[in-house]
Amino acid sequence: MPVPLTAVIDLDLPGPTISRHVYGHFAEHLGRCIYGGFWVGEDSDVPNERGIRTDVVEALRALKIPNLRWPGGCFADDYHWRDGIGPRDQRPRMVNSHWGDVVEDNSFGTHEFMDLCEMLGADAYVSGNIGSGSVAEMSEWIEYLTRADDSPMAALRRENGRDEPWKVPFWGLGNEAWGCGGHLRAEQFASLARQYATYVRSHAGNDVYRIAAGASDHDVHWTETLMRSFDPLEKGDGPAAPFQALSLHYYTMTGPWADKGDATEFTTDEWYLALARAAVMEQLLDRHGAVMDRYDPKKRIGLVVDEWGTWWNVEKGTNPGFLYQQNTLRDALVASRHFDAFHRHADRVVMANIAQTVNVLQAMLLTDPETGALVRTPSYHVFEMNTPHHDASALTVHLKGDVPTREVDGGTLALLSASASTTGETALVSLSNLDADQPVTLVLDLRGRDVTGHSARVLTAPRLDAHNTPDAPDAVAPTAFDGVRPHARGLEVELPAHSYVTVSLTLG
Ligand code: AHR
Repeated sequence: MPVPLTAVIDLDLPGPTISRHVYGHFAEHLGRCIYGGFWVGEDSDVPNERGIRTDVVEALRALKIPNLRWPGGCFADDYHWRDGIGPRDQRPRMVNSHWGDVVEDNSFGTHEFMDLCEMLGADAYVSGNIGSGSVAEMSEWIEYLTRADDSPMAALRRENGRDEPWKVPFWGLGNEAWGCGGHLRAEQFASLARQYATYVRSHAGNDVYRIAAGASDHDVHWTETLMRSFDPLEKGDGPAAPFQALSLHYYTMTGPWADKGDATEFTTDEWYLALARAAVMEQLLDRHGAVMDRYDPKKRIGLVVDEWGTWWNVEKGTNPGFLYQQNTLRDALVASRHFDAFHRHADRVVMANIAQTVNVLQAMLLTDPETGALVRTPSYHVFEMNTPHHDASALTVHLKGDVPTREVDGGTLALLSASASTTGETALVSLSNLDADQPVTLVLDLRGRDVTGHSARVLTAPRLDAHNTPDAPDAVAPTAFDGVRPHARGLEVELPAHSYVTVSLTLG
């Protein structure tokens, strides 16, 4: 008798915590992410609170977004924070050289960003400028943001209307220092990161977690060089010094840089290719994680995937520097595949940030520049369906039987991806069927705890390229799923072709 395809889950063996911060976000001064996306200004006809779009905040609150990275990206290493404080009509203008070479007026700056974080209930992740800034500039920025007494920067903040210091739990030391952040060598950047980190001080009441700009893709030399630059890691149990984490960037595309593939017009082969490229994240976490383990077996240093997601050719007719793209069911499954990888590496991956939240790359929300209409993308729905994984304990999912596979891109792509977590009273099982055409039947062999109830949701659509528009905002949206039946070992799930399913369990 062939073994039915089975996912064995020991519900009584919780593993490491899946930090809610792996569901983090990224908002850069790029195209219509900040300007037009989050920020419309107080005089806009688009409903807003203190200049920030009300509908965007409301939609994102449903995702419980844990942190927001800002102001870049490449933009961060061109950004001088003092240009973005004080009366808006007196702020200097600046050229956004990386993104469209447009002139912007700095009307969205430090106070506006912190206001946005407060509205979202998200922690601030400020990305500091190493490429073209100075140590003093970075040091004064965190003093301005977080110092409570009458220090010079705290006094300046008060002059600008904010009495209380803010909390800024996360601080980025540069961005892509191997590229737009200065074209530095790994060794050169490691020294700079140590120096800058020293002056990003934890002012009383604000314990800051410093994240050094890390590698791209498979560049393990960069990771190794940063790992060597830590003070001895075996010393004590406190936070690692001089910084506490390093980052990793990886984007999913089906073509080369010059022609990355189309967001909505793709073949079935390109469907699989995108998902195979998404699965590369798992290899990257293994490879960079192995290097980190050699220097840091106790896993005190965090890995922060602070840019990930799909990067397609820009939508025809839009500014090539604005990186605006549509988002289909394929993007949703790219996201669910990434989350499975993050959940499985919860002991090392402490944070991740989708690029980017509104109107740029693999966005959660798209806004129409003419009408202002807002659309939730298929990727948004994966983030929403996964909120029960936030801060839950990872559960190992052992797949038994013949997992369907397909040869793609010189490797083998598993067409079923699964992960699970528990909070003690509940568990959530995430199941992605990457097969473009075939449903798959899966037994959930649920061991170690009584399952007293279950419910399920599904995200799918008739077509692989299905996406949401102002005219059809719910073409891809989650619905209640009735494909789960009791089984002698737990439950049996009939996963539709090209679908994402979450099964919620109540535990006795
Ligand atoms: O997310 C868009 C850009 O991609 C970021 O600015 C940069 O860090 C990366 O190359």
